[in-house]
Amino acid sequence: MTPNVRAFSEALMSSVEVVTHGVDATTQLGQHLGALLRGGDVLCLSGDLGAGKTALARGLALGWGALEPVSSPTFVFVHEHRRRADAQRLYHVDCYRLQSEADAATIGLEDMLTGEDVVLLEWPEQVESLLPADRLWISIETLDDNTRRFTAEAVGKRHLALLTDLQTQVK
Ligand SMILES: Nc1ncnc2c1ncn2[C@@H]1O[C@H](COP(=O)(O)OP(=O)(O)OP(=O)(O)O)[C@@H](O)[C@H]1O
Ligand SMILES: [Mg+2]
Repeated sequence: MTPNVRAFSEALMSSVEVVTHGVDATTQLGQHLGALLRGGDVLCLSGDLGAGKTALARGLALGWGALEPVSSPTFVFVHEHRRRADAQRLYHVDCYRLQSEADAATIGLEDMLTGEDVVLLEWPEQVESLLPADRLWISIETLDDNTRRFTAEAVGKRHLALLTDLQTQVK
C-alpha cells in the first residue's frame, strides 16, 4: 500500500459508531473490545451521568479477563484489576471528583497513563492535560431510556489499529 492510500484508509477507520439497546448489549460490546486490548491502551469513556460508562467498563474488563467484576467507582478513585493470563493490570479510574492535576498525582494517574497496563477512564475531561496523545475516545450518548450510541474515535497509530480490529468484530 502506498503511504497515501494508507493515510486515506486510516482516515476511514478512525471512527466507529455502535448503537446498543439495553445494558447487556453494551456489556457485550465492551467484551468484544476488551478482548482486543493490549498493555499501554488508554480508553476514555465520555458521557453524562448514567450514560453507560461503567456498564461499558464492566464489559471491557470481562473481555480483558479480569478476575473481579467491575463495580461503580463511587468512593474509590481507582480499581485495579488482575487477570490469570499474565501480570498485566487494568485500571478503572473515575476522574469525576478529581479537582486538579495535583489530585491526579495523588492517585498515581500519570504513572498509570505512561505504563504498560490498560487504563479505562470515566470523566476523562477532568484530566485532559494528562492524557497521552495516542488514545481511544469513546463518546456515549443517551438516545432513550434503553438506547445508547457509542462513538469510538482513535487518535494515534496504536489505537487506530485497535479500532480497526473492533470494526472486524462488530461487522
Ligand atoms: N443501552 C444501554 N447501555 C448501557 N446502559 C444502559 C443502556 N440502556 C439502559 N442503561 C442503563 O443506564 C445506566 C448506565 O449506568 P452507568 O453506571 O453505566 O452510567 P455511568 O455513565 O457510569 O454514570 P456515572 O457518570 O454516574 O458514573 C444503567 O442503569 C443501565 O441499566
Ligand atoms: Mg460510572
